Amino acid sequence: MFTQVRNLQEVRRGEVLALVGENGSGKTTLSKLLSGLYLPSRGRVTWDGRDTGEFDPHALWQQTAVVPQDFAHWPLTARENITLGQPHGGDRTVHQAAERAGAHEVVDHLRSGLDTLLAREWFGGVELSGGQWQRIAIARAFHRPAGLLVMDEPTSALDARAEHRIFTGLREVAEDRAVVLVTHRLANVAIADRIVVLDHGRIIQTGTFEELTTAPGLFRELWLLQNDRAIPAQRADKEKEAGKDAGKVTEKEAETGAEKEQPA
Ligand SMILES: Nc1ncnc2c1ncn2[C@@H]1O[C@H](COP(=O)(O)OP(=O)(O)OP(=O)(O)O)[C@@H](O)[C@H]1O
Ligand SMILES: [Mg+2]
Repeated sequence: MFTQVRNLQEVRRGEVLALVGENGSGKTTLSKLLSGLYLPSRGRVTWDGRDTGEFDPHALWQQTAVVPQDFAHWPLTARENITLGQPHGGDRTVHQAAERAGAHEVVDHLRSGLDTLLAREWFGGVELSGGQWQRIAIARAFHRPAGLLVMDEPTSALDARAEHRIFTGLREVAEDRAVVLVTHRLANVAIADRIVVLDHGRIIQTGTFEELTTAPGLFRELWLLQNDRAIPAQRADKEKEAGKDAGKVTEKEAETGAEKEQPA
């Protein structure tokens, strides 16, 4: 399978394509075009050489798994929230998807496990936190046996450990799928085979993480802005300049494990 945009971009099974850009630049719109949820009014989006408009929408939907930016909270059981009408492979595949998404930690703590109703307003139901719901939404997408996986800001509500798990496991997830990843956290797109930078609905840069962080352009500008928030290091530098660091273990000493001699 491959998907093409204006003869410029394609993504194949086994690859990760990242879409980045500022708010409103068109990332979600482009990801919906790629997955056939929107049809282009101009230009072409093709799957294996055929325009997405030529396919039966149901056939496209069957081959697409999406973690939408505004994912749904279904008032169903944890199992149904993950399988969503496609219970292929039984609980084994549910557990596998949940584990890859970090949702197994959520399910393991539910009083009836996968049978727990995820809706507090119902008897016996529970309400999950935002990040817990997001893990379930990711598990739902991982569970679908689809050739295209679109993840739109999939880790916006996740803690650092859960986010790390998703991105370190993404290469494995992409083994038999084409993955389109949308994220603002640019450190996360280092994993991508190719990054597409959007600005006002247009592709303005493409390249690998290494290429885009070294070449001048919007990506590098946004990357430097994100790294500019290394406040603790800057504060330490300022304190050092002001001579306020007396008696503190310096960064270098901390790194080497050296300790200051205590006064007698
Ligand atoms: N269905 C629609 N009809 C018309 N305009 C739309 C539609 N959906 C989105 N837009 C507009 O298209 C532009 C791009 O929106 P899009 O949601 O793709 O941005 P984005 O890059 O995903 O932004 P964010 O980082 O905030 O998620 C925005 O100006 C938005 O208002
Ligand atoms: Mg968006």
